Amino acid sequence: FAAVDVIRAKRDGARLDDERIAWVIDAYTRGVVAEEQMSALAMAIFLRGMDAAETARWTGAMIDSGERLSLTSARPTVDKHSTGGVGDKITLPLAPLVAACGAAVPQLSGRGLGHTGGTLDKLESIPGWRAELSTAEIGKQLDEVGAVVCAATEGLAPADRKLYALRDVTATVESVPLIASSIMSKKIAEGAAGLVLDVKVGSGAFMKTAEQARELAAAMVEIGAAHGVRTSALLTDMSTPLGRAVGNAVEVAESVEVLRGGGPADVVALTLALAREMLDLAGLPDADPAEALASGRAYDTWCRMIRAQGGDPEAELPRPRHVHTVSATETGTLSTMDAYGVGVAAWRLGAGRARRGERVQYAAGIRCLAKPGEYVEAGDPVLELHTDTPDAVPAALAALDGALTYTPADPSPAKDSLPVK
Ligand code: URA
Repeated sequence: FAAVDVIRAKRDGARLDDERIAWVIDAYTRGVVAEEQMSALAMAIFLRGMDAAETARWTGAMIDSGERLSLTSARPTVDKHSTGGVGDKITLPLAPLVAACGAAVPQLSGRGLGHTGGTLDKLESIPGWRAELSTAEIGKQLDEVGAVVCAATEGLAPADRKLYALRDVTATVESVPLIASSIMSKKIAEGAAGLVLDVKVGSGAFMKTAEQARELAAAMVEIGAAHGVRTSALLTDMSTPLGRAVGNAVEVAESVEVLRGGGPADVVALTLALAREMLDLAGLPDADPAEALASGRAYDTWCRMIRAQGGDPEAELPRPRHVHTVSATETGTLSTMDAYGVGVAAWRLGAGRARRGERVQYAAGIRCLAKPGEYVEAGDPVLELHTDTPDAVPAALAALDGALTYTPADPSPAKDSLPVK
């Protein structure tokens, strides 16, 4: 085949057959198809799309570009993937919770880039914790603890690694077949038998509308089915941050609260909903994740999971050198707290990175002292900005411009006020 013919075919709206897809991905991985040719093909796919069968084949070719882990465990393996959000620390309580209920959870994760945080960056705020594990270590920990959250190995879907970096700089990220195949190639290569997708919708997510999110979810579920992975998807809100903590150490602290039976109601509810879905896929529908949280079994598994990777679950987490409080400008109900604005602000404070390889500040982030729907009086603290570099505060405040809105309202019965007779 010639790359130019494959590009021309897609440019003119043809579907790519299996042989051409296999060839172009393999040749691109080997450097035979040039970056500029793959750029043109990605743009042609962006504009023309791919049907379900093409997308499944494209995913298969990306899986075949690298190794496929075969994580054998005595327990059923099941994983979760979130399309990314602000304050989305759910993996932290979820992996040990599902393991405590009898499944094995191999959660190969990434670092944050842009306004969404990275699971590995959050966990690295725990003193001693190590993200890089060998395949043998992953297998051993899955058997002994049941849950492992670690860095994806270099060998998984290398075609996607190259293509994703290219899409990032060629305005070809926001394409349903390209996003769906990118995510699913990594998840299928990881070898879990079941996969639950948490597809985020709203300002803080890739997909801004429910319709787009549904389309992405359907594409990913079809790819999973085509590759023999039991896959299901939930669409969940990302218009406002999840929970009350956004950043690194602050999100670990909030996850530990959830694992100890407390924590914000939205984080608990989403953790339990995803756990139930995962346990269903793993063939354990009678497991009781709420009991595993309440009894402390999930917290015990968390401690073992952190220790197995060199971390000290009891160690004090890093604290910020500087805290800046943002106060309510009006009296009334806090009506919106924009996820994107809060995500960018946390990033500016040092919780995220602007380039691959940069260091993050573990203590940086935001605590939300009020959440939408709650009554506040002018001057009440709403957000606490945490950073080690106070120079970053003005940029964070600029990102928050317009992110908080209020509706004038009487202090109508607050949700958590005591009932009045
Ligand atoms: N996450 C991925 O891994 N790939 C995409 O294309 C988008 C989000």
